[in-house]
Amino acid sequence: METLKFKNGDEMPAIGLGTWKSEKGKVEEAVKIALNNGYRHIDCAATYGNEAEIGNALSTVFSEGKVKREEVWITSKLWNDSHKEEHVIPALKQTLKDLQLEYLDLYLIHWPVAFKHGVSFPSKDEDYLSLEEVPIIETWNAMIEAKEQGLVKHIGVSNFSNKKLRDLMNESDEVPEMNQVELHPFLQQHELLEFCRENDIHCTAYSPLGSGDRSEQMKAKNEPSLLKEPAIMEIAKKHNASPAQVLIKWAVARGTAVIPKSTSKEHIISNLESEKLPLDEEDMKKIAGIDREFRYVNGEFFVTPGNPYDNIYDL
Ligand SMILES: NC(=O)c1ccc[n+]([C@@H]2O[C@H](COP(=O)([O-])OP(=O)(O)OC[C@H]3O[C@@H](n4cnc5c(N)ncnc54)[C@H](OP(=O)(O)O)[C@@H]3O)[C@@H](O)[C@H]2O)c1
Repeated sequence: METLKFKNGDEMPAIGLGTWKSEKGKVEEAVKIALNNGYRHIDCAATYGNEAEIGNALSTVFSEGKVKREEVWITSKLWNDSHKEEHVIPALKQTLKDLQLEYLDLYLIHWPVAFKHGVSFPSKDEDYLSLEEVPIIETWNAMIEAKEQGLVKHIGVSNFSNKKLRDLMNESDEVPEMNQVELHPFLQQHELLEFCRENDIHCTAYSPLGSGDRSEQMKAKNEPSLLKEPAIMEIAKKHNASPAQVLIKWAVARGTAVIPKSTSKEHIISNLESEKLPLDEEDMKKIAGIDREFRYVNGEFFVTPGNPYDNIYDL
């Protein structure tokens, strides 16, 4: 299995199971299917509202003895309402309790945006906290403390632009080890990947299949479909594979981790098998040509005229 290597020698399997939108009644089974069929990386987040069900699956699989805790890479994320120093470790401890774990392999700041404590999603400008009220460095220092306490092995960020990474690195000697961002052939983000490579920051590609199960209100009118994109379908046909497998292998071939979400047994199994797909130079070149800077999960929903956030994707 391809892995991403960390400075201390730890290795994160390149393909993991995403769990956003995985319904409570289905996610437990999905995680069990994944672990029993070779996955060793699960991507979670407090805000997905399903960590307790994932915890049940982890506990069952580990107690069966076939898979050990230390063989699985488990990531979770700090939600935007817990950025203040005093809320970071309690939020992490709740995630650990829900997941029934002693430690996480990776903990990420989910977005560079802060809400008032207890606000799950803002409905008005007053629900936000400004970067003066809670600077990212305050949150980051609490993440470092969590690592020092042994609650997490690695710490990183998510949805950070080059500028936000640079700003953070100017204030701290502890460089984020991961930036989890939206990455797929319609949003290839060469500049961001290059910056991360130069600074030893790994990247994880989220929404690699186009996040088709998002709510309708999150979707743009006539948004393009990655799974039905002719170039992707042609390459899939050439290799006798599925379009999803092409998209997943493309992410691995670029040196990123990738976390396709599925609760379907067939998809879960075939998504991991994409690793075997022999994408060649011609395929990679063809995919390089379909970039169109299209975001399925556009963080601009955090930008309103009156709130403190005006630029999520500043370079
Ligand atoms: N850090 C962040 O801010 C952030 C944001 C977004 C996502 N994420 C993470 O990234 C993960 C993946 O992103 P995502 O959930 O947005 O979307 P995604 O993985 O791009 O797409 C999920 C959709 O693809 C379908 N699918 C899965 N495998 C398939 C296959 N082989 N063939 C056809 N369809 C397939 C799924 O349906 P079935 O379930 O029926 O298979 C589901 O409808 C998330 O679950 C989450 O863990 C993180």
